[in-house]
Amino acid sequence: MRVLSGIQPTGRPHWGNYFGAIRQHIALQDNEQAFYFIADLHALTTVRDPKLLQEYTREMALTYLALGLDPKRATLFRQSDVPEVAELTWLLMTVTSMHLLEKCHAYKDKKAKGLPADAGLFAYPVLMAADILLYDSDLVPVGADQVQHIEVTRDIAQRFNGVFGEVLTLPNAHVVEATAKVPGTDGEKMSKSYGNTIDIFEEPTKLRKKIMSIKTDSTPVEEPKDPDRCSIFALYTLFATPDQQAMLAKRYRAGGMGYGEAKQALFDAALAHFAEPRARREQLASDPTVVDDILKAGAQKARAKGRAVLDRVRNACGLGMACM
Ligand code: TRP
Repeated sequence: MRVLSGIQPTGRPHWGNYFGAIRQHIALQDNEQAFYFIADLHALTTVRDPKLLQEYTREMALTYLALGLDPKRATLFRQSDVPEVAELTWLLMTVTSMHLLEKCHAYKDKKAKGLPADAGLFAYPVLMAADILLYDSDLVPVGADQVQHIEVTRDIAQRFNGVFGEVLTLPNAHVVEATAKVPGTDGEKMSKSYGNTIDIFEEPTKLRKKIMSIKTDSTPVEEPKDPDRCSIFALYTLFATPDQQAMLAKRYRAGGMGYGEAKQALFDAALAHFAEPRARREQLASDPTVVDDILKAGAQKARAKGRAVLDRVRNACGLGMACM
């Protein structure tokens, strides 16, 4: 079974990325043949600063490795290192109806807001379909917001197979359980686009400041508080054991504890949770060739598979092999 997923390097990886995707991706490397890539071609629809794009891409690779991705088991690569994906995108585009793409949320939302959308954003789901189909992927672990794109991928693959024969493997979405909501510093869902993120490897002094700035209500210290309606507590549950959670919940309900104390508990728990990965990240970052070599080896492996599938597809359409 081939598991494949991609993550966009549109910023520094934050807690929402970790609990919503990265953690589950890494867990899957134990039992499946996993391909994970950093979707830099997709990120180009939003990041238009070449230096930043490179920095975010590298940081994403470092983050996966620091958090436990084992390049001997899982294949980690940069999307743009396998240019075959762009060719497959075109071939898929020729069987994709405009209507299918008009329904897709990224484009639709932008249009509804009256914002100008470029063709890249419109065709975004086709590139994503190519990402998946190029490697004969069986299972695609994604958050609920991406399920629509997997359905589009299946639609496109079915259409293609209907026209050219059984060439493409139909994937299934594996919805990674929405690990209890990950609220951001303003209480809304943590997301780069809301500017409310907390980075996984935030420098400790800044991390503490950020946590201290998380919005809470104005219940006075002495009064009881409801842990289930508090972002600090919601975040704490992501890092703490059930016993620790029960203990803090009790203190909330008893009154006499201010939010500052809960914030400190969250800071301690988060710092401890990422302590080992943080050290590993430092070590990996100290020698730039390590990450480069891992990405290169990953790309070679992914490309060999992608090339074989693309040849099959080209052949099915009557294009024949490319002269090399
Ligand atoms: N669109 C996905 C996201 O924003 C990232 C992505 C690109 C992806 N290509 C993919 C995810 C292929 C899974 C499979 O989260």
